[in-house]
Amino acid sequence: MADLRSFSNILVTGGAGFIGSNFIRYLFTDAGFSGRVVNLDALTYAGNPQNLADIAAQYKDRYIFVHGDIRDAALVQKLFADYAIDAVVHFAAESHVDRSILDPQSFITTNVMGTYTLLEAARQAWKGRYGDDAARVPGATGQLAGTSMLFHHISTDEVYGSLGEEGAFNETTAYDPRSPYSASKASSDFLVKAYGHTYGLPITISNCSNNYGPYQFPEKLIPLMILNMLEGKPLPVYGDGKNIRDWLYVVDHNAAVWTIMTRGRIGETYNIGGENEWENIRLLHRLIEIVSEETGKPVWQLEALVTYVKDRPGHDRRYAIDCSKLQNELGWKQSVSFDEGLRHTVRWYLDNPEWIASVRSGAYRSWIEKNYEHRTL
Ligand code: NAD
Ligand code: DAU
Repeated sequence: MADLRSFSNILVTGGAGFIGSNFIRYLFTDAGFSGRVVNLDALTYAGNPQNLADIAAQYKDRYIFVHGDIRDAALVQKLFADYAIDAVVHFAAESHVDRSILDPQSFITTNVMGTYTLLEAARQAWKGRYGDDAARVPGATGQLAGTSMLFHHISTDEVYGSLGEEGAFNETTAYDPRSPYSASKASSDFLVKAYGHTYGLPITISNCSNNYGPYQFPEKLIPLMILNMLEGKPLPVYGDGKNIRDWLYVVDHNAAVWTIMTRGRIGETYNIGGENEWENIRLLHRLIEIVSEETGKPVWQLEALVTYVKDRPGHDRRYAIDCSKLQNELGWKQSVSFDEGLRHTVRWYLDNPEWIASVRSGAYRSWIEKNYEHRTL
C-alpha cells in the first residue's frame, strides 16, 4: 500500500521517554524518514535524553533536542515557526496510573492543558494551509493525500474503561475512563477530535494497549519485576493478580503509529494492540522463567519473591483490543512474538546496568543539568 503523506520536519513531544525515544530511533533506523526531528521534552523523572545519545551523535544535522514544556505556549509557537513543523507526534504525558492516583494535578496540566497548547499552536501555524473543508468530510480516505500537515495524538486503550470476561474494545466503544490518568487522556482525545471537527485540523489518533521493551522506566510492571528479580527484592502483585492486560512490543507500536501517520485516514482513530492477553500473575511466572534462563538464578528462588500486596484503587480488571481496523485498512501487523519480545527486553536490562543505575539513582538528572539549558520564552 502506497504512502499518502510525507513529512519534512516532525515535532515529537515526549521523545526522551520510553515510547517516544523508541519512536525517534525507529524513524531514523527503520522508517526511511529523511527529514528532521525536533524532540520537545521537559525531562521529568521519566525523560532521559541519554536514551538517544547515539542518535544525537549520528544524526547531528537532523535531530534537534529542545528541553522545554508543552505547556509553554510561546515556546511551542516558536518551534512551529523556527523549524517549519509539518507534523506533530504527541507522546508527552504523565503516563503512570499509580502516580495519577497519588497526585493527579500534573496529569491534568500536562495531558489536558499541554495537549490544548499544542493543538492551538498547530492551528495557528497551519492556518489556511491544510484545505479546511476537505478535512471536515468524515471518512474521506486520502482526501488530504499530499498534504504535508498532520497532528498525530498518542493515546491509550484505558480511555475505554474496563472489560468483563468477554469482548474487546473497538474504535466505537464508548469512553469510560476510570483513573485520573485515563480521564486526562480521554480529555486530550476529545480535544484532538474537537480540533479536527471544528477547525478541520488534520488529525489522527491511536489508542494502544500496554507497551513493553527497552528504555521503559522501572515503575511499570515488566521492568519493575525484572529489576526486582535481579536485586532479590519482593515482586509486588496487586490484588489477586488476575487483572488482564494486552501486551505489545514497543517497536510494533511505533511501526503502527508511522503506518497511521503516512497512510491513515484523516480524522480517524485506530486501535493498536497485540492480541496478547495475560493475567498479571501468569505473565510474572513466564517472566520468572525467562529471567531464570538468562541469569542462571533458580526459578524457586525468584518465585519466593512473589508478594501479593494491597490492590490499586479502582484497578481496571481487563483490557483487550480489537485492532482489525488497522490490520484490514492499513495492513499493519505485529512482527515480534511475546516470548521473543520479553526475552529481548530481559537481555536489554541485563546488558544495560549503567542505564538502570543512573535511572534508579536519578544521576542522569545532573547530566541533564550539565548538558541542557531549559528553554523557555
Ligand atoms: P513516559 O512516562 O516514559 O514518557 C513521557 C515523556 O513525556 C517523558 O520523556 C517526559 O519527560 C515527557 N513529558 C512529561 N510531561 C511533559 C511536559 N509537560 N512537556 C514536555 N514533555 C513532558 O511515557 P511512555 O510510556 O513513553 O508513554 C508515551 C505516551 O504513550 C503517553 O502519551 C502515554 O499516555 C501513551 N501510551 C503509553 C502506553 C504504555 O504502555 N506505556 C500505552 C499506550 C499509550
Ligand atoms: O493500557 C495502556 C496503559 O498501560 C498505558 O496507557 C499506561 O501509560 C501504562 O502505564 C500502562 O498502564 P497499566 O496500569 O496497565 O500499567 P502498569 O505497568 O502500571 O501495570 C500493569 C498491570 O500490573 C496492572 O494491572 C497493575 C499491575 N501491577 C503493576 C505494578 C507497577 C502490579 O500488580 N504490581 C506492580 O508493582
